[in-house]
Amino acid sequence: RDGLSTTVLGQTIVYRETIDSTNNLAQELANNGAMEGTLVIADEQQQGRGRRGRNWFSPPHSGVWMSLILRPQLPLAHAAQITLVTAIALAKALTRLTGVQAGIKWPNDILFNKKKCCGILTEMHAEFDQIHHLVLGIGINVNVPQEDFPEDIQHIATSLQAVKGTPIPRAKVVQVVLEELEPLYRQYVADGGFGTLRDQWKAHNITLGNEIIAHTAQGTIQGRALDIDEFGVLLVEQPDGEQKKIYSADIMFA
Ligand code: BTN
Repeated sequence: RDGLSTTVLGQTIVYRETIDSTNNLAQELANNGAMEGTLVIADEQQQGRGRRGRNWFSPPHSGVWMSLILRPQLPLAHAAQITLVTAIALAKALTRLTGVQAGIKWPNDILFNKKKCCGILTEMHAEFDQIHHLVLGIGINVNVPQEDFPEDIQHIATSLQAVKGTPIPRAKVVQVVLEELEPLYRQYVADGGFGTLRDQWKAHNITLGNEIIAHTAQGTIQGRALDIDEFGVLLVEQPDGEQKKIYSADIMFA
């Protein structure tokens, strides 16, 4: 907490040396009334989770594995947009920390030179149509030498150290991320959504304008990523000119 200049995020910190997943503990604490901004952080996760049931590589001493509890008073329909807001904060923070431009791959990956350095896993709990709480899980590969990534992710993963060339203290990474996120989160709550932050998202994105392949629950769509709307929905133009809206997907560059 030393040197942290935020007023909400990270005012309460729960630290564990080892844990199954920081998202699990954050869910439990949130269900028991933990305050908005409570941060759960661990040195190592035994069962770090990624999107779509994937595993998240979370070895000790190497990364920032953390989850924030948020309680925005917004309709459930707006909950997914927090991921885009968080991606803006992360792109800014990781660029500041490394001196190298980080880019956002829709919806929730932060990349350096097309390799992923950071992912976001947002989980939510609703009551009727209102958000009860959100758990914002953030995983950042910090001090992992490039050759230390497991072979299966070696070509798609990177770390801040690999990008910058020198290690970065993890406490500093947490501090910069929270400081970038707090003002954006405030704006998202005040505006009731992602809309006014859209230009900032676009300024950091590396998705729009590119040919992509999107794997959605309804099937695969290939085309050019044209734009995102004020809800964060991705618009793709297919080769026949038809435009499709993509609400949720994993995307790859074609
Ligand atoms: C993804 O890109 O698929 C999302 C990765 C999210 C990883 C973080 S690490 C902290 C938090 N706890 C988890 O189990 N997952 C998230």
